[in-house]
Amino acid sequence: MTERPRVLYAREPALDVAEFRRVLVESGLGALRPIEDGSRLRTMLSNADLLLTARWDRPDCSLIGVARCITDFAWCCYLSELAVSATAQGLGVGRGLLDETRRQLGPGVSIMLASVPSAVGFYERNGMTRLPDVFWYHREW
Ligand SMILES: CC(C)(COP(=O)(O)OP(=O)(O)OC[C@H]1O[C@@H](n2cnc3c(N)ncnc32)[C@H](O)[C@@H]1OP(=O)(O)O)[C@@H](O)C(=O)NCCC(=O)NCCS
Repeated sequence: MTERPRVLYAREPALDVAEFRRVLVESGLGALRPIEDGSRLRTMLSNADLLLTARWDRPDCSLIGVARCITDFAWCCYLSELAVSATAQGLGVGRGLLDETRRQLGPGVSIMLASVPSAVGFYERNGMTRLPDVFWYHREW
């Protein structure tokens, strides 16, 4: 049996839009993000404050996960996308990206996010508190 390669976590401020899009699609999150609007996706990347990636540690370094955050690095962080390609799900990569996000931000910064229903158990499993009093203006498109 071949051993699974290690996963490398890194900050990638210049993450390529096609790679980002591919992981969104492969994770299933693409159904809820503007994957057909390249310009909007590019703006999402260029205006993000913290972009973390997970890649296989092998020659092609293929991207298997991403965490895209909006943060001031001092008080709060909104984790807008956490996505792991389906072939790499269930291997600890999502947790690894959450841990790396927390490590990069430090203990003085709170992290918030809006979960899709199917991922609620993942965030609970990984120690996040579910809040009842969160308010939201929904985007219109
Ligand atoms: C949700 C997602 C990010 C989780 O990443 P992952 O790499 O598959 O999860 P991990 O392997 O790191 O799981 C860590 C732990 O959480 C548990 N877990 C993972 N997904 C779970 C789920 N959907 N519900 C409950 N528990 C879950 C795992 O069993 C594991 O538990 P353990 O402590 O017993 O080992 C990933 O499945 C994904 O990208 N899903 C599609 C897109 C999505 O829903 N993103 C979140 C948008 S809000």
